[in-house]
Amino acid sequence: MIEQFNRDGTLRHLITLAHLNRTQLNALLDHAETYLVGHAHYAPREPRLLGRTVALLFFEPSTRTRVSFHLAATRLSADVVTLDGDASSRVKGETLLDTVRTLEAMHTDVFVVRTAEAGIPALLAGHIGRGKALINAGEAHCEHPTQGLLDVLTIRQHKPDIRNLCVAIVGDIRHSRVARSAAQALGILEVGELRLVGPEPLLPDTNEFDGAVRYAELEPGLRDADVIMALRIQRERMQKEAGIPSNDAYFKRFGLTAERLKAARSDVIVMHPGPINREVEISSAVADGPHSVIGRQVTNGVAVRMAVLARIAEGLSGTP
Ligand code: NCD
Repeated sequence: MIEQFNRDGTLRHLITLAHLNRTQLNALLDHAETYLVGHAHYAPREPRLLGRTVALLFFEPSTRTRVSFHLAATRLSADVVTLDGDASSRVKGETLLDTVRTLEAMHTDVFVVRTAEAGIPALLAGHIGRGKALINAGEAHCEHPTQGLLDVLTIRQHKPDIRNLCVAIVGDIRHSRVARSAAQALGILEVGELRLVGPEPLLPDTNEFDGAVRYAELEPGLRDADVIMALRIQRERMQKEAGIPSNDAYFKRFGLTAERLKAARSDVIVMHPGPINREVEISSAVADGPHSVIGRQVTNGVAVRMAVLARIAEGLSGTP
């Protein structure tokens, strides 16, 4: 296991939320809030990463996560370099290590990595030099820690009493790193109730998501929920699609419509990590409607990534 904190308590890497405690997690969320309060009309800027280089290594397609890391790093005054891998070619660990070594030789301080292969972020973190850092920006179906942070930040802003909340994650949970990281973060914050809602083939194995309640039907899964998190069907992660509903069939049974939302609490918030498939997992009326906090999630994403980078900056080599 990779140690994510330095001996003095500063953040070294962010590979998973699993080993963070409540205090560490809340500290990151509180730090992110400082980039939101009073910044409604302009983007916050800080010199914390001045003279530092952040490399974005994205070996899987991404729009919002890549752009938000880029903005977060530049708003902290870093130089940013971006490497987009070919999503279709399987990137081998060794090749990736060579890329990282090359970038290290160019004085890269922070590596932000997205990969379709499990285990790569931890592997790379184990090889990079002292005083350098790695942030997991999405790893296969397993981990997406900054998404987990922005999701709980969004929830906390709307409904701070997390211990008394019922959160329903709806859709393709089986293949979702977003669901896994959200569940970790919610678990650390001791969420009242976590529900996993979706057709049987898209629900995770029963030994995962400890303590969550599973629903194979939408209506009972949404009943009295405070928070609904909709997920995309990740067909690109499936070996075979046998038993997976077509988009039309899925929308008929599990699509979030205004009518179906009535089963939830009247002040329910609806989240989605994006990219959204309108009229598949969510209707346009809900995605753009009064319960949607999807835009807020995107805004929070930059703030959370700034907070993670700022925390990591404290432990980089040569820090005064
Ligand atoms: C998600 C991802 O890439 O894991 N999107 C994101 O980070 N905003 C979810 C998805 O691709 O469905």
